Amino acid sequence: MSNDQSVATGPAHYRLTVKAIREETSDAKSFVLVPERGEAPLFRYTPGQFLSFRIPFQGRNITRSYSLSSAPGADPDMRICVKRVKDGRGSNWFNDHLSAGARIEATVPSGRFVLRDRDAPLLLIAGGSGITPCISLLKKALLETGRQVRLIYANRDASSIIYHNELELLQKKFSGRLDCVHRLDDRDGFLTQEDVISLARGWHDADTYICGPAPLMDMAENTLTDALGDRAYIMTERFVSPDDDVAKTPDATQDTGPQEAPINDFRLTLDGVDHMVPYKAGQTLLQAALDAGIDAPVSCTEGHCGTCMSALKSGKVQMATTKALSKRNLERGYVLACQSRPCATETLWLDFDL
Ligand code: FES
Repeated sequence: MSNDQSVATGPAHYRLTVKAIREETSDAKSFVLVPERGEAPLFRYTPGQFLSFRIPFQGRNITRSYSLSSAPGADPDMRICVKRVKDGRGSNWFNDHLSAGARIEATVPSGRFVLRDRDAPLLLIAGGSGITPCISLLKKALLETGRQVRLIYANRDASSIIYHNELELLQKKFSGRLDCVHRLDDRDGFLTQEDVISLARGWHDADTYICGPAPLMDMAENTLTDALGDRAYIMTERFVSPDDDVAKTPDATQDTGPQEAPINDFRLTLDGVDHMVPYKAGQTLLQAALDAGIDAPVSCTEGHCGTCMSALKSGKVQMATTKALSKRNLERGYVLACQSRPCATETLWLDFDL
């Protein structure tokens, strides 16, 4: 484990060694990661989860989260894939500065973009590097269940398909159960609502998982929600690259909306158990929960991974950023606990059991 625990209420970071690096496309590389001796049990994960990395940037650390593209049972080691983003501080650091043998720091695996224990078909919609958690889910579903799987994978062109060979091998091996539909912008045009409706036809009972660029995710989620209503089971995984000054206490000199309200405690539900959590002025709800010893879901603490997403059942909060929440999740009253401070004195109730 790193001997430098970032902040008192933040998650611990552990050292990982980069065992191997593989170029997947001209702008994306896979990194195979292994924990320190004795720390492997901490890094047991469920397909679809991610790690949050501490990345040096201009004399300080920034945090970025990347999904695991490996799956236990299919791959001996953890693997992530990082696609270069223009001016991306995290993605360019991975692509430019790391070589095999390097040691980096990460939190333990986290995230809720995981399969439900069900036999329903699985519909995966991925764009670009959004394939990373989807291929992990896909491998688990094929290897450990009898589920039918359709993957709709959108890319710019054929050369930008990440894990192309691996997907072809899986398609051959599970030809009766896996249907990979590649959509290429230069050949087919951008994926549209009509395409999603058409490709999801006959898959209305499926559990749907969506990961990729925000416009594609919003379009696919809204299209399927409108088409299926309450029947839809849709999970999204949305990582935003924050400005590195998000997650800070709002500047009191600026007009940041409602002021923080003085409350002494709030109700928190986690795993079916209710807690009353003491609250001190200036804390986020997540900080207060962690300080109270509650094992609340946490990873980046900066509002870009969505791990701390929870339902605000009563009360009002002010959030420093909501970028990791989809429009649909905001409409449902979901909040990011790591970004939330109370802004009304009425009883506040935060429910992590979504
Ligand atoms: S812990 Fe990542 S968004 Fe809150």
